[in-house]
Amino acid sequence: MVWDSVHPFECPTRVFFGWGAAGQVGERLKELGVSKALIVSDPGIEKAGHVATVASAIEDAGIGVASYTGVQPNPTVGNVEAGYAVYVTQQCDGIVGLGGGSAMDAAKGVGVVAANGGNIADYTGREQIPFDLPPLVCLPTTCGTGSEVTFNAVITDETRHIKLPYVSRKLAPRVALVDPNLVVGAPAGVISSTAADALSHAIECYINTASDPLIDALTIGAIRMIGQNLAAAVNERDRAAIAQLSLASTMAGIAFNMNANAVVHAASTPVTARHDVPHGVANAIFLPAGLRFCIPAAPDRIVEIGRAIGAPIGDLTGEAAADVAVTALEQLFSSVGLPPTLSAFGVDVSKMDLDELAADAMKSRSVPLNPRPITPEDLVALYRKVM
Ligand SMILES: [Fe+2]
Repeated sequence: MVWDSVHPFECPTRVFFGWGAAGQVGERLKELGVSKALIVSDPGIEKAGHVATVASAIEDAGIGVASYTGVQPNPTVGNVEAGYAVYVTQQCDGIVGLGGGSAMDAAKGVGVVAANGGNIADYTGREQIPFDLPPLVCLPTTCGTGSEVTFNAVITDETRHIKLPYVSRKLAPRVALVDPNLVVGAPAGVISSTAADALSHAIECYINTASDPLIDALTIGAIRMIGQNLAAAVNERDRAAIAQLSLASTMAGIAFNMNANAVVHAASTPVTARHDVPHGVANAIFLPAGLRFCIPAAPDRIVEIGRAIGAPIGDLTGEAAADVAVTALEQLFSSVGLPPTLSAFGVDVSKMDLDELAADAMKSRSVPLNPRPITPEDLVALYRKVM
């Protein structure tokens, strides 16, 4: 069936990965013709010393540097405006996004306003950005969102209390520098939750109906790398394992940027919009139940996921084998301290309107791509399971 339609594939971002990749930031900015770069980051990353390190690597290449380090966990319109103010007063002509998805999304937002004027809220939606951004180089400090290679950003409008989504090819960073040095010092909880998000991207892309062999190569590779390295990365702080996670999250990002997710992100998003549950943790909670829901429609793909993460499938086949795969995933998450239900976050099912959550989830573009058709009733059942 995959050959009956035409599939696009592109990753316009030049990706450089490996220990020390961040040290190339000056060289890459120089290639892009940047004379003064604005680093967009957050207070935690600044405190960890990464802003100073990256700034001196930029200066070593003879390029000027300024910084805005006020990005909040869900970057706001105000964060973009504050970053843009520094960009203008410091006469910058290039941007460096340094941090997790929030800092990189804020950096994209600053670039949109720098190139197009007006307010970032003016450009929300799909392909609504008229002019190309200034050169943007992204350096992820977590192993999760894949924002360093995606066409997406989400900015929160803090006055209207809504999230503004952006999807545009113009948001693709020109360069991604994926350096495990930026991740090794992150708290264990950040590594486990962001890697669970990346694993969720890879798994949902792999099982959804829009997958194709090119995307499969990236997703099954990322699933293997995360599945086999997550425990060592989190529990032993194993450097080689953390390096595997950092590249795997970029691979999953390239894949889901060309595809979409499935039932897990569709179901988790309305919950994280209403409750203070980290995105990656929510996906880890929904992933086993979401996969079990998909077993009747995609048992073989779920078995392949199980084999990639090292589940003890042995000679089992079909749905029984797929169930072993999902159990192995549950055990993996439990081994790194990820909770199995939302109750740990004080989410009380009796106080929630599950029909409203399900109706919101049904709006996700990932819903029509789920291997097993989803009804609002299915989602309500899923919510009851994880709460
Ligand atoms: Fe995600």
